[in-house]
Amino acid sequence: MADAGLPAILSYAGRVTSPREQPVPVRVGGFGGVEGLAAFLRDNGIGQVIDATHPFAARISRNAVRACSMAEVPLCAFERASWEAEPQDDWTHVSDVPGAVAALDGPGKRVFLAIGRQHLGDFAHLAQHRFLTRLIDAPSADFPLTVAEVVVARGPFRLEDDLELMRAHGTELLVAKNAGGAGAEAKIVAARVLGIPVIMIDRPELPERPVRGNVAEVMDWLHARLGV
Ligand SMILES: NC(=O)c1ccc[n+]([C@@H]2O[C@H](COP(=O)([O-])OP(=O)(O)OC[C@H]3O[C@@H](n4cnc5c(N)ncnc54)[C@H](OP(=O)(O)O)[C@@H]3O)[C@@H](O)[C@H]2O)c1
Repeated sequence: MADAGLPAILSYAGRVTSPREQPVPVRVGGFGGVEGLAAFLRDNGIGQVIDATHPFAARISRNAVRACSMAEVPLCAFERASWEAEPQDDWTHVSDVPGAVAALDGPGKRVFLAIGRQHLGDFAHLAQHRFLTRLIDAPSADFPLTVAEVVVARGPFRLEDDLELMRAHGTELLVAKNAGGAGAEAKIVAARVLGIPVIMIDRPELPERPVRGNVAEVMDWLHARLGV
């Protein structure tokens, strides 16, 4: 948006203590549900919404569809293609985090739990496993996993680094969300290279909405709407 010289405001939920610097104005924090978001769109004269949230941020994406409909603001989602298993991969598909928890109800393993911070507590009772997690912010006092190695790092991640990380941890099983895109794909490729099975959490269902698969197509959608 900045490169195109188009005015924009970027919204963060506020989950990360020091988000990346951005070349457009930034606001932080929830809107207060569908009504709050619709009011924000109206009050700020927003002409278009681009939902570029993570594929697993289902609530804000559902809210955005409804709020845009209420406020009569067109919406386009930037949705990266899902990762696809290759013939040599050993993926078990589960439909959500509880499905991943259930899939780990077996003998103790060294498990790379690459699902972000929000749902780690769901795995806390699985004390037989030796977990590795990777977080953007250092863990706080209420960190739920007792037997765990924690790496504090922000993507994009490189294949050689993830190979080293998983070798050092002795990873036997990877749990991942099917985020798609390049920035978090290294762990998936590393699992492929190392012959490590993957519990793959498939994406949540989202309402029908216009979707574009890359930034150039999103910008085409925007330019077509703006007539510039
Ligand atoms: N879920 C993941 O795996 C994941 C991974 C990487 C990054 N993220 C990013 O982290 C953010 C939060 O993810 P989540 O899974 O907690 O979302 P969520 O469950 O879909 O949304 C929960 C609530 O957080 C607020 N929210 C979420 N995204 C927001 C945004 N961009 N701007 C303002 N408020 C926002 C909204 O609060 P109100 O109802 O009060 O408006 C929303 O109802 C998302 O923007 C997402 O892109 C998520």
